[in-house]
Amino acid sequence: MLMKYIGAIGLGLMSITAEAQVSIIPQPQEVKMGQGVFRMNDHTVIMSAREFRDVAVLFSGQTGIRMMKDKAVGMIRFTKLNKASLDTNAYILRVRPSGVELQASGVQGALYGMQSLLQLIRTQPDPKVLPVLEIRDSPRFAYRGMHLDVSRHFFPVPFIHKFIDLMALYKMNTFHWHLTDGAGWRLEIKKYPKLTQQAAWRTHAYCMDWWANGRKYLEAGNPNAYGGYYTQEEAKEIVQYAARRGITVIPEIEMPGHSEEVLAAYPHLSCSGLPYQSSEFCLGNDSTFTFLEDVLNEVIAIFPSKYIHIGGDEASRKAWKSCPKCQQRIRNEHLKNEDELQSYGIRRMEKYLTGKKRKLLGWDEILEGGLAPEATVMSWRGEKGGITAATEGHDVIMTPGGYCYFDAYQADPATEPPAIGGFLPLSKVYAYEPVPAELDTAKARHILGAQANIWTEYMPATYQVEYMAFPRMLALSEVLWSRKEQRNWDDFKTRLQKHYGILQRLNVNYYRPSYQLQIKTQIDQQRKTTRITFDSEQYQPQIRYTLDGSRPTAASALYTGPFEITGSAKVQAAIFKDTALQGRPAGLPVDYHKAIGKKVTYNEPWSSSYPAQKEATLVNGYRGSLTYGDGQWQGFLGKGLDVTIDLEQEETLTSLSIGFMQLTGPGVYMPPYVEVLLSADGQHFAPAQKVENDIPASHSRLAFKDFIFDLKGQKARYVRVKAPTQKGFLFTDEIIVY
Ligand code: ACM
Repeated sequence: MLMKYIGAIGLGLMSITAEAQVSIIPQPQEVKMGQGVFRMNDHTVIMSAREFRDVAVLFSGQTGIRMMKDKAVGMIRFTKLNKASLDTNAYILRVRPSGVELQASGVQGALYGMQSLLQLIRTQPDPKVLPVLEIRDSPRFAYRGMHLDVSRHFFPVPFIHKFIDLMALYKMNTFHWHLTDGAGWRLEIKKYPKLTQQAAWRTHAYCMDWWANGRKYLEAGNPNAYGGYYTQEEAKEIVQYAARRGITVIPEIEMPGHSEEVLAAYPHLSCSGLPYQSSEFCLGNDSTFTFLEDVLNEVIAIFPSKYIHIGGDEASRKAWKSCPKCQQRIRNEHLKNEDELQSYGIRRMEKYLTGKKRKLLGWDEILEGGLAPEATVMSWRGEKGGITAATEGHDVIMTPGGYCYFDAYQADPATEPPAIGGFLPLSKVYAYEPVPAELDTAKARHILGAQANIWTEYMPATYQVEYMAFPRMLALSEVLWSRKEQRNWDDFKTRLQKHYGILQRLNVNYYRPSYQLQIKTQIDQQRKTTRITFDSEQYQPQIRYTLDGSRPTAASALYTGPFEITGSAKVQAAIFKDTALQGRPAGLPVDYHKAIGKKVTYNEPWSSSYPAQKEATLVNGYRGSLTYGDGQWQGFLGKGLDVTIDLEQEETLTSLSIGFMQLTGPGVYMPPYVEVLLSADGQHFAPAQKVENDIPASHSRLAFKDFIFDLKGQKARYVRVKAPTQKGFLFTDEIIVY
């Protein structure tokens, strides 16, 4: 990595431009390279201020470098500054030819500096030779979180330690432990032993098998039972283990929904009084609150975190609607409806937590029916909840699905182990900006940070959790730690190469960088040109391409940087190692077609949940990617798609093409057919052609289809395209007209 800096910086460092061996992730705020090196040897020892002894012990454990009380040659010193001169999260790390000095005013800063030093050592060609430098560093966001769902699958304590160690290495500071859900209760609660004798065990090991086969629980000890839980002693040990590494553990105890495992063990807490009927606690029943308060009492005694997460997401109102107790509660409390009943439950829990000097944290559904006064919101259904909450003066942690759900695919689903859906490649995580543009500076202060969520429906074992978490966590750590203007994808990728080595040595089953090429286009509507950029997760790949649709060979044009196309081309590109093509070529028809930038009238509205780029979506020259959540796929419900494009003048039309996707899990289907009609006046339309769908509704895996029309040189100014829904959603990205 090339580091440029200007100005004298003292301490014998010189003002130079240096090819430096610094590959720290997240990128520190300031790195100044000097000249020369510090050589460690067998006499190198660590000397630490008393306050940072524990940090130094961790460092010693990781490196094998001894701790020493007395003066010794080749020193690594951890020294304490007073708080007035340095923020407690900040550190200064200096490498001089005579040794290393790490300065901090608090343990947190010392830990971060220690992790930077550790990374510096682990990324050098010779780990005993460190370059002379000075790093000054502190985080951008106070909340840098990783969530882990241990209900869908249970992961043993040693893995939780490993996960925490990896978080610490990358300066993440909050572990959101999703301990309870329908798939299993995972924390010992002494007052309610059935939670772990029964609700922690189920009939099928793989979560999706259990889901598809009756979703029943078993007694602990049944030889067919899958499950497990953490004892209170284990949970306390994990809290301490994390705290020593600067990480706060926030427990999540789900309510009022996602609680079918509790209701199977204690059915009197459900509206029906029976097990296996609903997932929601009965909120009309005071026993529910007694139970939840009892559970939280034990949780609070284990977890010292300021925040306690109470879930709050995806609670069905169905059972409450026909439950006399819930309806009585609605009347007694003068609530308007079941939304307000949920809100009543959350407020009541908030009051309880506040009384215990804790703060309530919940998913963005806690906004529905009125937000509890002091609550902090995790915005997961996009950024909307976060924007609303911040605008109302509540603190927010951003976890929007499109950027922070690490259960989504990170490459083409056809090449990946099964995942829940979506498409969240490393580059998209890296591009995430936690502060929505809608918020002004004052409101933006409520955005405490962001968090990646790892829901484990499709992660039956620790190796799969690692695969989904890494290296995406490294990208998020840089989003949350480094300054916004410091973020640079190419530079990150360069540093990442060294971290793949670290992850290998730590036996982490990280996702290996794909050979898949992404072809990015940028339309210039003035000049009617398309700028083409190729990107890949590979480091400095040799990319060769053609523009005539032919398969690239080792003799094809070498890509040296973005280029422009006027008119249309069939771009094909691939990565080569020497002369061998790697993976599969990527192809994209680049069309500066007749409809780009033209006015589109919606005879039927798009779904308000998936507006994409609104009126511009279907004629902006951009195709969607592998997920309908990417802002280029527009969604339609009900009557489906019915739009009219005004080409501004009569045109001779040769062809039209429109793409749809199918992914039946979330209810996305092809239209049964697509119809094109033409008109000279925008009033009277004549049918031109109808193209039938040939992808069956039973095809559940992700599928794409372009419906292609031969318009045979007909003349028209207005083009109308109709595509009814089959069931659920339609998603389309572009109408390409020639
Ligand atoms: C969630 O993903 N249900 C918070």
